[in-house]
Amino acid sequence: MNVNIVVLPGDGIGPEVTAEGVRVLHAVAARFGHAFALSEALIGGAAIDRTGTALPAETLAACRAADAVLLGAVGGPQWDHPDAPARPEQGLLAIRKALDLFANLRPVSVHPRLTASSPLRPERLAGVEMLVVRELTGGIYFGERGRKQLAGSEEFVFDTLAYSEREVGRLVRVAATLARTRRKTLTSVDKANVLETSRLWRRVATRVVAEEFPDIELEHILVDACAMHLLRRPADFDVIMTENMFGDILTDEASMLAGSLGLLPSASLGVETGGATRMGLYEPIHGSAPDIAGRGIANPLAAILSVAMLLRFSLRLEAEARAVDAAVAAAVDAGFVTGDIAAPGETPRSTEEVGRAVAERVAAG
Ligand code: IPM
Ligand code: MG
Repeated sequence: MNVNIVVLPGDGIGPEVTAEGVRVLHAVAARFGHAFALSEALIGGAAIDRTGTALPAETLAACRAADAVLLGAVGGPQWDHPDAPARPEQGLLAIRKALDLFANLRPVSVHPRLTASSPLRPERLAGVEMLVVRELTGGIYFGERGRKQLAGSEEFVFDTLAYSEREVGRLVRVAATLARTRRKTLTSVDKANVLETSRLWRRVATRVVAEEFPDIELEHILVDACAMHLLRRPADFDVIMTENMFGDILTDEASMLAGSLGLLPSASLGVETGGATRMGLYEPIHGSAPDIAGRGIANPLAAILSVAMLLRFSLRLEAEARAVDAAVAAAVDAGFVTGDIAAPGETPRSTEEVGRAVAERVAAG
């Protein structure tokens, strides 16, 4: 298969972890006989420094022409000042929006060897296998915002949470379609006791599932209760679907079930085109971790597992995706883990050692 993949390393630990993702992609290409054409482009703070904007037009054009995009992370304290004309995060939000990647898939599972890395008791973690489907191009991230000066010099600022029926409906269809391939239960998370957008969310979810997915069991749960149940009974959840900001917050929480933020991959998808490939953007859910950047100690597994999702969802190479997932599990079993998930007394491996261990296991088959 000849495909074109754009790599956007970004900032902080982004370049270190995407380098290991790329290493694993090369191992997959060699073992399965594919030709992956890889090219790099700028995004985030790195792009601001070089071009003045967080998403240069060239980067967007390269991504539009690609079969898939692998992204590291964006952001860092050097671009954080409140009056900065451009912010790294704008680049990430802009590319999600420009490519209409409205469905963000964030799987959460627990590797048995890593239960000690989770703050939860091991018996709570048995059987955890959930998929959070986060709406990614709407809600408060993209609503109208502004600031004005009130009488005196008091500042007044606002962000708006808005959703259309269409935006909710298409996300529900993606989540319900995925639920069909799993335990067929879908949990819709909202704040319908307070928010108008959540009441729309609940109505649309109920209607779409009843009309188009009668085989799926749908439950509704309020976001505050969901935050609690994720810790109390995490194994009960199958597919969770929710709006943009709730999904952002709940998935950082859910990463603690797996043991580290450094373990969770994601896929951001748009509409199905029916073509041989499906455009998608793949990135770890973690940020740029400036405090550990450049030290070679970041966990590359979220980036590598994002590569597995890229193979599965954009290139439709399921056997290759499984080979990567299996190689990650085998590397972890063999003790190739970074400091964030190393057991007490166990020597933490470097980012590169972990990446090589996975690539070797992909190559060996
Ligand atoms: C994520 C991140 C981003 C988000 C930030 C960096 C804008 O936290 O992908 O979860 O909030 O979507
Ligand atoms: Mg986040």
